[in-house]
Amino acid sequence: MIKFTLNGRKVETDAPATARLLDLLRDEFELIGTKEGCGEGECGACSVFVNNLLQNSCLIPIGSISGADIQTIEGIIETEQFKILDESYSIAGGVQCGYCIPGMIMASAALLSKNPHPSEAEIREGISGNLCRCTGYNMIVEAINLAAKKGDGLC
Ligand code: FES
Ligand code: FES
Repeated sequence: MIKFTLNGRKVETDAPATARLLDLLRDEFELIGTKEGCGEGECGACSVFVNNLLQNSCLIPIGSISGADIQTIEGIIETEQFKILDESYSIAGGVQCGYCIPGMIMASAALLSKNPHPSEAEIREGISGNLCRCTGYNMIVEAINLAAKKGDGLC
């Protein structure tokens, strides 16, 4: 049995240690905000925080997360940071099909937590692990820029 913390709650699973964290989140815990894109660590759609670090859950066997603190998009949805990002993505038109957006929001939150006032180059670097097939990235970059301005002192 593997025990860990998921969005602030102590949980456990009997799934095999080789199972992917992505599948566990979606199938056992029904946290379907975390998406599968490539399944190979290339697109960032499956981004989660593991011990506060942005990680691709499709590459993580659950045997490696015993005792870890995992946060998904559902776990940050009540935070002030999420509300600012949500509003900024909306204003900037950063959401089209939406498939990449949970991962983008996680990457945005990770970036702004470390660097509350990133330059455009730093924003592009911060989301470089996340692919979007719809927006051409410019509106997403603008959204993060807006969030940085609004979130002064919060991120
Ligand atoms: S599904 Fe995990 S990085 Fe693409
Ligand atoms: S909004 Fe469609 S993949 Fe990014």
